[in-house]
Amino acid sequence: MRILIIGSGGMLGVDLVEQWTGDDVIPATSYDVDIRDIRQLRYFITQVHPDWVVLAAAYTDVDGSERNPEQAFAVNGDGTRNVARIAQELGRKLFYVSTDYVFDGASHQPYEPDDPIHPLNVYGASKAAGESAVREESKYWMIARTSWLFGASRTSFPEKILRAAACQPQIKVVADQIGSPTFTKDLATAIRDLVRSDAQGILHITNSGSCSWFEFAKEVLLRAGCNTPVLPITTAEADRLAKRPAYSVLSPASLTVRGIKLRSWQEAVRAYVAELRQMGKMDW
Ligand SMILES: NC(=O)c1ccc[n+]([C@@H]2O[C@H](COP(=O)([O-])OP(=O)(O)OC[C@H]3O[C@@H](n4cnc5c(N)ncnc54)[C@H](OP(=O)(O)O)[C@@H]3O)[C@@H](O)[C@H]2O)c1
Repeated sequence: MRILIIGSGGMLGVDLVEQWTGDDVIPATSYDVDIRDIRQLRYFITQVHPDWVVLAAAYTDVDGSERNPEQAFAVNGDGTRNVARIAQELGRKLFYVSTDYVFDGASHQPYEPDDPIHPLNVYGASKAAGESAVREESKYWMIARTSWLFGASRTSFPEKILRAAACQPQIKVVADQIGSPTFTKDLATAIRDLVRSDAQGILHITNSGSCSWFEFAKEVLLRAGCNTPVLPITTAEADRLAKRPAYSVLSPASLTVRGIKLRSWQEAVRAYVAELRQMGKMDW
């Protein structure tokens, strides 16, 4: 199969390209194609002629989206619509990566794909617009919602925690938001396997289990052998611009029914820390 990965320079995109052996994979960064430009996109996808387009490109700055909603909607809403429209026009299948932030967090049990969405912030609303565009424009699609991504190719939450813990006597982390950390390497292999099985529809992909950001941070420091104390704080104390769901755990049922189960988030943290060490990223 020929697979076009749009967003190959991003945190997930790097791992998608790395993990996707055995197929003809064409990586596309924002320098190769801007999804806001439908003419450029049509030319690019026509030239590449893929069986599947995997859309991992997005505007992912959650607080930045509050300051700049036009940009969030231009990329995540209109840009996604462009990709879906061209994929359909050229008869290509589309895999869209979405987010737990389409939910409002009022639930007390893991969200299923069919649960009603109600984003609390601009980023979530723009990704929800992307989901609608995929459903409206294309006939052969898969939407995979995921959450709390971390990967070694970019500076994500756990690396920020390690850096902060290395130079501060103690660190403070939010303890009243619950979700499922997801290692981009594990997500990438799940996406590859779903595409290979020609899956369609909407589903949820995360590492197994759930925790707060506070518990996530403590696990990262434990695995890295760092003793810096971590203090729990509330969302209100963290004073971030964008509202975030208090609970955004995604149910694994839609994934396990397709024969895929991801390891626990704690095991994934161990693998991540080992990868950081191997890359020499913990030598500060
Ligand atoms: N990060 C998370 O915690 C999280 C959680 C849930 C879901 N997701 C979703 O997972 C996917 C991957 O996220 P990620 O964290 O890997 O994102 P990321 O590291 O921010 O990478 C996104 C990529 O999209 C590219 N891009 C942005 N605007 C573009 C445009 N107009 N045209 C073409 N490419 C463009 C960026 O290129 P430049 O860098 O060159 O601008 C970047 O390489 C996204 O769909 C995101 O919404 C992420």
